[in-house]
Amino acid sequence: MFERIQFMIKKIRLTLAEMVLPDRFYVQEKLFPMYCGKIYPDFVGDTRIFNYRSDKIIRDSNRWLIIRMLMDRVVACNSGEYAELGTHQGRTARLIFKNMSDNAKLYCFDTFRGFDAKDVAVESLRSSFKVKAGDYGNTDEASVVRYITAGDSRDRLVICKGFFPDTAKGLEAVKWRFVHLDCDLAAPTEAGLHFFWKNLQPGGIILIHDFFGGFSEGIQGSFKEFSAETGCVAVPMCDGGGSAVIRKPW
Ligand SMILES: C[S@@+](CC[C@H](N)C(=O)[O-])C[C@H]1O[C@@H](n2cnc3c(N)ncnc32)[C@H](O)[C@@H]1O
Repeated sequence: MFERIQFMIKKIRLTLAEMVLPDRFYVQEKLFPMYCGKIYPDFVGDTRIFNYRSDKIIRDSNRWLIIRMLMDRVVACNSGEYAELGTHQGRTARLIFKNMSDNAKLYCFDTFRGFDAKDVAVESLRSSFKVKAGDYGNTDEASVVRYITAGDSRDRLVICKGFFPDTAKGLEAVKWRFVHLDCDLAAPTEAGLHFFWKNLQPGGIILIHDFFGGFSEGIQGSFKEFSAETGCVAVPMCDGGGSAVIRKPW
């Protein structure tokens, strides 16, 4: 209860701050000269394309940076596809699509109807964080495709619409090099960890969002079981969503 009140106060403070502070307060600009300005000059471009106020991805510029840096690491895999489990309106998918290797595809897995009732039932047993079936249902496949490809050809984008892991059927032979798990809930996270890890290329990376955030109870519970089986260790990242990373040994 106390945590919930603290969370609400934080939200009110942020909303009030957004009304009066200029946009530049929303991006951690100190990153500009050190990394983004030199290594990733397109960061500045992206801050213009994406909307500071409504787009949490660009506002959490550490997250942007982490995705870019990890994607650079998996170039060395030479082959393997990219995947995102939990695409919603396509914000992180757009970033991945824009920066992935030329010879690869991005597979986006989402119900495009929000959380499924089956996953929500599991969540209520594994976590005290309250969620509802249909949360994140404010999306539709066609506009997400347009958003992700941003006018480019959609040949390299594969939309896997529906309930995961059902939508993974038929993809058992696909090799992966970079996977973004951003589905919030324990059940699809667990299924995703097992499915993608199996065919992750040596040197390939799985980035798990919300590992230390509001959904951490469910996600870490799933990870514990996966870790006991595989020996994988999750390394924390310093973004706003409390992400963590695992990598397949070479
Ligand atoms: C936090 S949102 C993803 C945010 C997105 N990556 C972004 O950049 O804004 C979580 C998404 O996971 C999807 N999801 C959760 N469980 C799923 C499942 N079992 N199968 C498919 N999609 C699922 C939801 O529909 C929702 O769109």
